[in-house]
Amino acid sequence: MLWTLTISLDLKNVERETSKAWKNIDRPKPKAVCEIMGVGSGKGKSILFGEHFVVYGIPSIAAGISSETVAKVTRTEQPGWTLDDRRPAVSGYKEKKLEEQKGSIENILSFCGVDISKRGIHIELEGDLVCASGIGASAASCVALARSLNEEFSLGFDDSKINEAAYQGELGYHGTPSGIDNTASTYGGLIWYVRDLEGGSPTFEMLKLSDEAHLVIASTGITASTKDVVGDVRKKKEEDPSWFDSIADKYTRLVYRARDAFFQFDLREVGLLMNENHQMLRELTVSCEELDNLVEIARRSGALGAKMTGTGRGGNQLSLAADLRTAEKIAEALAEEASGVWITTFGR
Ligand code: MEV
Repeated sequence: MLWTLTISLDLKNVERETSKAWKNIDRPKPKAVCEIMGVGSGKGKSILFGEHFVVYGIPSIAAGISSETVAKVTRTEQPGWTLDDRRPAVSGYKEKKLEEQKGSIENILSFCGVDISKRGIHIELEGDLVCASGIGASAASCVALARSLNEEFSLGFDDSKINEAAYQGELGYHGTPSGIDNTASTYGGLIWYVRDLEGGSPTFEMLKLSDEAHLVIASTGITASTKDVVGDVRKKKEEDPSWFDSIADKYTRLVYRARDAFFQFDLREVGLLMNENHQMLRELTVSCEELDNLVEIARRSGALGAKMTGTGRGGNQLSLAADLRTAEKIAEALAEEASGVWITTFGR
């Protein structure tokens, strides 16, 4: 097991353990011109409905979670950029994503028009968001970096522009991001999101709930490549369009029912729909044995609904709980099998 589980609303306990487990590569910090720095943050996210379908312009619902990544940018005398990535992460995550991360940083710098050819920048990444597939870690770091550059170089970006910069960063991680991750990370809250397939701006709407809802997030500890899994689904869709369309049609009917259930704060119905959505993701072949196992444990332990979240084939699993006590019970059961468990809330 990578880190010691702490089931608590105080996520810092989990963070402390994970930080210890992750070994940072020591690099000398480049000499800063001055210690003034730009600071920015981006939230983690959980997709409650519609991962993968969202890539094809079908509505999805995501929640920003309270854990976040913080970026700090300092100007240096040397040209180029250097990075000290101190984010807590599941084993192997950073190594697997490193090349994509470099492309992502280049994209954001270029979008922001920051010239590092004569004098450069030193980037530090930290925060309490534990990097794992499915939690929006890449998007959170893109939003955080865009915000820190915005502050350091007085770019005058509003949230919409930060979201655009972060989308460019996400392009470094995988070729066809739907934009849901960077949007949830920029704005937080509960969002209804529809990608524009013509390349225009997405449509999104903040969904306000009458109360907050409890989520349990469990990690399989497996890092999946979003690029590979999204690419594989695309290939399968192209080989057999009617197979994909029949699942996508079922999902489209489901997500409108989920939206209504959220407006009525009918969490029992939301949970049942999450279960159905998980089955559809299994049909898309993006779940795996480890995720299915966590889903089963969560349901047996009293979850109103449980599903995989995000890319799949590893990454994270989500459970909806009726209240904090039930969330703790579910988290305790999941802790037997998961490599990390968090309790969080959304909707307010
Ligand atoms: C990844 O968090 C969500 C996917 O739907 C990809 C995307 O929306 O870009 C799998």
